[in-house]
Amino acid sequence: MCGIVGYVGPSPSLAVLVAGLTRLEYRGYDSAGVAVLGPDGLGVAKKAGKLGALVDLLDHSPLADGTTGIAHTRWATHGAPTDENAHPHLADSGKLALIHNGIIENYLELKHEVEALGAVCLSETDSEVAAHLVAHHYSESGNLTDALQKTVNRLDGAFTLLVTHQDHPGVVVGARRNSPLVVGVGDGENFLASDVAAFVEHTKTALSIDQDQIVTITPDGVTVQSFSGEPVTPTPFTVDWDASAAEKGGWSSFMAKEISEQPEAVENTLRGRIHPDGSVDLGDVNTLIAEHDTKRVVFLACGTAAYAAMIGAYAVEAWAKIPATVELSHEFRYREPYLDGHTLVVSVSQSGETMDTLMAVKYAIEKQATTVSVCNTQGATIARESAGVLYTHAGPEVAVASTKAFTSQIAAIYLLALGLAQKTGTLSVAERQEIAADLLQAPTHMATMLQSDERIQEMAHWMADTRSVLYLGRHVGYPIALEGALKLKELAYIHAEGFAAGELKHGPIALIEPGQIVFVVVPSPREAPTLHNKVVSNIQEIRARGARVIAIAEKGDAAVLPFADEVIAMPPASSWVAPLLAVIPLHYFGMELASAKGLDIDQPRNLAKSVTVE
Ligand code: F6R
Repeated sequence: MCGIVGYVGPSPSLAVLVAGLTRLEYRGYDSAGVAVLGPDGLGVAKKAGKLGALVDLLDHSPLADGTTGIAHTRWATHGAPTDENAHPHLADSGKLALIHNGIIENYLELKHEVEALGAVCLSETDSEVAAHLVAHHYSESGNLTDALQKTVNRLDGAFTLLVTHQDHPGVVVGARRNSPLVVGVGDGENFLASDVAAFVEHTKTALSIDQDQIVTITPDGVTVQSFSGEPVTPTPFTVDWDASAAEKGGWSSFMAKEISEQPEAVENTLRGRIHPDGSVDLGDVNTLIAEHDTKRVVFLACGTAAYAAMIGAYAVEAWAKIPATVELSHEFRYREPYLDGHTLVVSVSQSGETMDTLMAVKYAIEKQATTVSVCNTQGATIARESAGVLYTHAGPEVAVASTKAFTSQIAAIYLLALGLAQKTGTLSVAERQEIAADLLQAPTHMATMLQSDERIQEMAHWMADTRSVLYLGRHVGYPIALEGALKLKELAYIHAEGFAAGELKHGPIALIEPGQIVFVVVPSPREAPTLHNKVVSNIQEIRARGARVIAIAEKGDAAVLPFADEVIAMPPASSWVAPLLAVIPLHYFGMELASAKGLDIDQPRNLAKSVTVE
């Protein structure tokens, strides 16, 4: 939540900062602001609304540009999204500007303290208090890094802070605890940002800033220290994607682009990791699995990532014969779960920054569990905190609603499940080879599913006024039903529920009335005949009560035809590949219905891509 960017260098900073915010807007989009150190001191512009509102403001009331600045795009926590609550916040008579991502839990106590020292808080935010506290400590030493160090040691909660001061042109100081911060190292210029996307068009050389570290950038240098003042050598990495990967490239939305990238994302995630004998090469994770006496696997994730984990857990149990469960990260850590050294905890997170998942991973580490992260973002906090990481190679995902990250998470977890089965010896070489061959076919089948968009678009248009949509599935189709429903809720703001089809008669069938739209993910009659028959019976039950059934079924599945109002056909594939196919029309449906209602597809209301607050 909240995107932050800082710049020092020879270029006029406004353009660099606003371009950076454009790439970070997915992190929060209810207000935005910028502070630039110009010839006459610190200039600030901030505005409620999307980034466009700030750009309009800057067009009408230009700021004197300079070569040092910080900028912020906000997802409100404390205080409504107003101009006053937008960042940057000023202190020291307007000479110091600060931006913040996170939540300062003890801000009320600190607010009383800074007010007693004479500060006047103009906003309702927790962040402004930090600005006044830095200013107070700055007044003692005249050293911005020291002032930030003293400040962060007083703060409870999660934060990334960036500070600039008009007496120090060419300097931006940042600090982080439980919120992301990376450095972009340029030639005579340096950047600080929540995510490499903000500076990748300028440099691909980056430095990870770890927990509880402070970084000071000037045009020619980067120095890092711990919160206790010890010097630290940061870890460098090279961004492995181009700026063009985070551009819309002619598509109507990032989501449309990212849905279409799903076959490639899965292909890239599998690439080079499967050997001809069906064994898998997962780098360090192979060693970790080999050395760990895994008696149980616990997946930790939220939202869409949790649905990917559910499918993964089925595969772990089926292939490796190891008990596997999925826990919503935010529920898990507050219920005193039992973990021990025989538990392999697998976190699944596109961003690698989701606070709930990060905290759950830390809890697991405390309890001696071995941790592996399935992550899409290089150098992300969860990946760094975990003992091992299995990167998905989906490329940057910009639309708030996750699509290509979801399918590549499933692919990555399948690899992990194969790796575990390799260790337990519960699959024969022939069985492993068959699964591997099926997985390698998945991208081709997924590409076929991209053709369903036109029909879905028509359906979405005639359903634009619908008030409720239900989704049913069984086995690996159940998480797909949940994912379909989540997409509709978050994108089209329509009530939607996903159910395990077998659960229907235990209550939800009471919801069925004439005209109720129900999507049903139908198992393959060849691969899973028993389940298929059961789902066809479920379809008959709801059809008899007047539901309009849209079945996502294998091509040629004659049993479904008489009972479905619409059939979206999937190419014949294995049961494990089927969820990767069935989800594509559901992703399209959420997107097309939102589009039919004239809604913002990439930035749905109240949401942000990376949920870095609890
Ligand atoms: C839904 C969606 C969210 C995320 C969830 C976890 O479309 O994107 O439900 O899946 O917030 O995010 P990550 O994977 O970054 O931990």
